[in-house]
Amino acid sequence: MLNLKLDTSRVASFVSEADIKAIQPEVEAATKLLHAGTGAGNDFLGWLHLPSSITDADFKEIEAAAADMRSRVDYVVVAGIGGSYLGARAVIDGLSNSFDYLLKERKNPVMLYAGHNIGEDYLAELLDFLKDKKFGVVVISKSGTTTETAIAFRLLKELVERTAGKEEAKHRIIAVTDKAKGALKTLSNNEGYKTFVIPDNVGGRFSVLTPVGLVPIAIAGFDIRALVKGAADMEAATDEKVPFAQNPSMIYAATRNALYRKQKGIEILVNYQPKLHYFTEWWKQLYGESEGKDLKGIFPAGVDFSTDLHSMGQWIQEGERTIFETVVCITKPNKTQLIPEDKDNLDALNFLAGKNVDHVNKMAELGTALAHTDGGVPNIHVEVPTLDEYNLGQLIYFFEKACGISGYTLGVNPFNQPGVEAYKKNMFALLEKPGYEEATKAIKARLK
Ligand code: PA5
Repeated sequence: MLNLKLDTSRVASFVSEADIKAIQPEVEAATKLLHAGTGAGNDFLGWLHLPSSITDADFKEIEAAAADMRSRVDYVVVAGIGGSYLGARAVIDGLSNSFDYLLKERKNPVMLYAGHNIGEDYLAELLDFLKDKKFGVVVISKSGTTTETAIAFRLLKELVERTAGKEEAKHRIIAVTDKAKGALKTLSNNEGYKTFVIPDNVGGRFSVLTPVGLVPIAIAGFDIRALVKGAADMEAATDEKVPFAQNPSMIYAATRNALYRKQKGIEILVNYQPKLHYFTEWWKQLYGESEGKDLKGIFPAGVDFSTDLHSMGQWIQEGERTIFETVVCITKPNKTQLIPEDKDNLDALNFLAGKNVDHVNKMAELGTALAHTDGGVPNIHVEVPTLDEYNLGQLIYFFEKACGISGYTLGVNPFNQPGVEAYKKNMFALLEKPGYEEATKAIKARLK
């Protein structure tokens, strides 16, 4: 089943049918290259058939570990950065009650996040909060040596061992890491933690449908089978055999590359549901790390509307005309909230009385799409019927597949990220990490 609808009609006055026709063969070739596994970065294509290859045994193992963790704790900290946390957070935030963490009676543990920054206050405040709570940790790191995650995990491990005891701590820590190598694997073996493997051939930003995403999502109480089913259906719907005109990932990849060739160098992912904020963060990493290289690439930005219409709206409407928007729309909200009648009507809103809040949201969305298109901002529209596991699975795979195709169409290796090493080298040199002696000397000389 293909639930996702892609509408590129509001791009037509910026890229013509002829422009799309011209790029179509390149996109088809890129799709073939991806499926043939002969392009750049082809040792990182494990994500391509992941949804259709996850087994019942895989699900059962994750569900059992999640149930055990859920039975032991009230809070779970997901410790990871980049591809090792954004996918899980995107799905968990997208599906959670916005105020769940404030409720006294909760069905699910509260999910917290660490290891994605080096904020001293953040970590101190987190530890202070957790010191008298029943909490567990899912530490996620493919390399097992990422500084941000390792610092947070060192602190969390010490706290859980001190507060719950070393024996119980073993059950309250789950590690998701490389199958054989890395510090986290060694530590997990030594301590006897439950571990899950990040497959060698799946890079961080494409890993949400591996235990990287599925373990925290299952712990948070969501249906990982439905999530993967949605992705599997999208895998079928975007297969290389599905012709261009019916293949949403090919059309999206073609449209954004055609826009890029018309000097639209910034793509803004737009949502009208605050719960999708982290979905946008996930998408930004997916496209930013995949395409921003060799001095090329669309810059992926994100906004939450209508909130940001009151801040970024001015720039988008009238600023430099180098942007386009991709709007992620949810047809129907999960809850119903009607606007009440007010006898004084001082706010003059009685004309909306009895209408759903979402009706206003949808009119804001339509009005904005028209205004932005009129103002020179092409709009791509991506819509799914509801915000649930199945549809998030469709959205995830749709964007992943389009990203691989788009990167090859752009002419880059979408599966590496050499640029992220530059800051690490400097940071280690400045921190005088053993092994960095020469780099330390050089960087200190530069700063004199
Ligand atoms: O996409 C990527 O490769 C990165 O974002 C990594 O996921 C991130 O740097 C974390 O790496 P690791 O999982 O090795 O800790």
